[in-house]
Amino acid sequence: MGAIARRRVLKFLAASPLLGYTAAGRLLAEESLDAIQLPNFLIKSPEQALDVFDFHSVAKHTLPPAHYGYLATGTDGNETLAANRRAFKDLYLRSMRMADTSDVSLGTTLLGEPLESPIVLAPVASQGAFHPDAELATARAAKTQGHLLILSNVATKSIEDVIAARGQTVWFQLYPTNKWDTAKMMLERAERAGARVVVLTVDLNSSSNRVLLGQFIRTDDRDCSSCHGTGSVEDFARMNPMYSGSGATFADFDTPDMTWDYLGKIRGVTSMKIVVKGIVTHEDAASAIEAGADAVYVSNHGGRAEASGWGAIESLPEVVAAVDGRVPVMVDSGFRRGTDIFKALALGADSVCIGRAYIWALAAFGQPGVEKVLEMLNAELSMVMGQVGARSIADIGPQYIGVRR
Ligand SMILES: Cc1cc2nc3c(=O)[nH]c(=O)nc-3n(C[C@H](O)[C@H](O)[C@H](O)COP(=O)(O)O)c2cc1C
Repeated sequence: MGAIARRRVLKFLAASPLLGYTAAGRLLAEESLDAIQLPNFLIKSPEQALDVFDFHSVAKHTLPPAHYGYLATGTDGNETLAANRRAFKDLYLRSMRMADTSDVSLGTTLLGEPLESPIVLAPVASQGAFHPDAELATARAAKTQGHLLILSNVATKSIEDVIAARGQTVWFQLYPTNKWDTAKMMLERAERAGARVVVLTVDLNSSSNRVLLGQFIRTDDRDCSSCHGTGSVEDFARMNPMYSGSGATFADFDTPDMTWDYLGKIRGVTSMKIVVKGIVTHEDAASAIEAGADAVYVSNHGGRAEASGWGAIESLPEVVAAVDGRVPVMVDSGFRRGTDIFKALALGADSVCIGRAYIWALAAFGQPGVEKVLEMLNAELSMVMGQVGARSIADIGPQYIGVRR
């Protein structure tokens, strides 16, 4: 067939109502979707963003390669990172028409705290690698947009400064250490600063194989030691103020011997509520509650822990079933759109945390970027609720979701 004749046939097929119904038409439709080349466009201000991925492009363009690699990396061949996104495609929305959704509300409560939105800022370490204002910019955005913030204990800024920037308390995330005195010191400091909840991360007790990070680092010709130092106790405390006075270094992070007793030890030194982050199985959800967890947080660390190849949203249902309403269930890993967040709420999550989505925006534009991401995700979630017919977070349930076989 000549080129002109072939174009005519393609034009006919494209206009045909059969497209999408015949095998040939479906193939063509899919191919044509893949073939759409997005124009090369980097947004210049947060207001130009159409979705969170616009911030990702700017962050990749702006950040030094090693810092971008740290943000982007998964483990091994990024199997879990990919699964986190792919898994959403197997869930579809079931819209109920003709419900009055003129007044959609995102308000909810979590561990007794009233929240304006179920969207929470996940703990992300070392935000100084992404923007000079670091966690202070994130905290100010959390304040203006009314969102709960979980502060990493490997933050560039201290909990006292972050609470001051947010104007109210934050939740404190703790990586366990193999020196109990270090953990105890941080727990006591966080509680003194006003934190009422500690989030214990349990998914990095052994190290993780971050190949993508290494691939970016080796393309970065800057001298890392001019900022990071040489890994001494002093360098570590300078970059991680929560460890100041502890004598700790990164070597103290390996805790392969940690078991569920650790929750009892925490309970012994603090009255903060305890959330266990990094749960992906019903067995661990049950153990966490038995060990005294006040909430269970489903997460595979954004695909940065192990190469399970299992998306977080896929592990959510068995955890929700095991928890059986006894404590709240939180979830993160791979959430980028209002539809993603809605799906988790429909599967029984009480709140959804975001990681890279807000860090892309922090890297791109600082506080106004993070504000825009929160504003967009709230608007997207409200829109989905309107589309399916749910007026409130409490209304959202399994009736609105189906699983593709
Ligand atoms: C750069 C980076 C640093 C992170 N630092 C921490 C941390 O200090 N503590 C922690 O519990 N989780 C940490 N996480 C994991 C996040 O809390 C969260 O589980 C993950 O980002 C969710 O996946 P997402 O990025 O796909 O949204 C980090 C994630 C990233 C991307």
